[in-house]
Amino acid sequence: MSRGRLIEMAREQLAHQQAGTMPLAPSITRLPVANYFDPARFQLELDRMFRRVPLALAMSAELREPNSYKAMDVVGVPLLLVRGGDGQVRGFVNMCSHRGAKLVTDGAGSTRRFTCPYHAWSFDAAGDLVGVFREKSFGELDHTCFGLTPLTVAERGGIVWGCVSPKHTPDVDAFLGEFGELIEHLRLGEMHHYGRRELDGPNWKVAFDGYTDIYHLPVLHRRTFGEDISPEGFFHPLGPHQRITGPRGRWLAYADRPEDEWPDDLLIAGIWSIFPHGSIAAFDIDGGTLYQIARIFPGETAEQSVSHLDYVSLTPPSPEFTAAVERQIDFLVHVVRDEDYATGLDIQRTVRTGAKTEFVFGRNEGGAQHVHGWIDRVLATADDDLDDLFRSTRPVAGASAGD
Ligand code: FES
Ligand SMILES: [Fe+2]
Repeated sequence: MSRGRLIEMAREQLAHQQAGTMPLAPSITRLPVANYFDPARFQLELDRMFRRVPLALAMSAELREPNSYKAMDVVGVPLLLVRGGDGQVRGFVNMCSHRGAKLVTDGAGSTRRFTCPYHAWSFDAAGDLVGVFREKSFGELDHTCFGLTPLTVAERGGIVWGCVSPKHTPDVDAFLGEFGELIEHLRLGEMHHYGRRELDGPNWKVAFDGYTDIYHLPVLHRRTFGEDISPEGFFHPLGPHQRITGPRGRWLAYADRPEDEWPDDLLIAGIWSIFPHGSIAAFDIDGGTLYQIARIFPGETAEQSVSHLDYVSLTPPSPEFTAAVERQIDFLVHVVRDEDYATGLDIQRTVRTGAKTEFVFGRNEGGAQHVHGWIDRVLATADDDLDDLFRSTRPVAGASAGD
């Protein structure tokens, strides 16, 4: 069924290309500049969005084997993700049940049992307390009441999604909607993990705006992607998420061919944009296709962020392919750090001047309009209504460029 949806999107795009038209958002929209630096707004985004909605926390490829784990800090919460012997990924607050020591040092590895560095209590992959050091002298304890604190975690489409707050238990499938089904076609879950880079950047929205912005490609990236790259994007809203494709000459050759002959790589092309902070993009390189999965996490202040860039491919490692991957990663990091984030860090300085109170997003910038519209909706929604909000696929007013 979801392949049918991909064909539908392709047909829609093809019709526009043949007619020489572009889908545009209904109007120009405005956004308060303060949204990019105001500490109160930033706190609201942490509390009502980053700590309530499922975030893309890891690639399945990072936790491929049973007993593999990943520990990291996300928006101030120490997290532990573990793939159990049963193959299921679970998530916990990385905090010992005894007196709160961080159970596992940040990083990745493989173990059957986690032993606390403070007094050696130990926990298994299901988060159960399985050992208390010198238990006789400690005193009797019901082990079943002292497991690790679980988080809502689900693995879909080769990505481990999770909510960083134990207080919230969002419905991950409601959040993903058809986006979750469609990205299954990318086969990220079957891919090999080639590397990770972390980059410091400006306010998370300044950084993320760039990932939905096709308009800037032939300008800011003229020296890297070239001046010939199209500045026009087709924005296909998928609940709060979206898919962004560019005009593709290759499509025209398929216009008169039966749809069941349309190749998968054309059907899945484009940037798959994960609300509120992620982007999946594919790059053809010698020997295969390399995917960059970017996730932008808010930093310690409104004016900082940290981006996790993960690189995965279906092509297994070989000396030649791995070398090609390394070259592409270096190139992409250069583009993101020296072009996108260098510009973003300058924007972070200009917004504070008070010289402008509003930014404008054009009708050709429907992708960013869609994201900002959804951020406002999430911030305005009560805890109990959040799942229903995501179940709704109503287009956001003024942001339905792909409709
Ligand atoms: S804090 Fe972990 S064993 Fe004491
Ligand atoms: Fe860019």
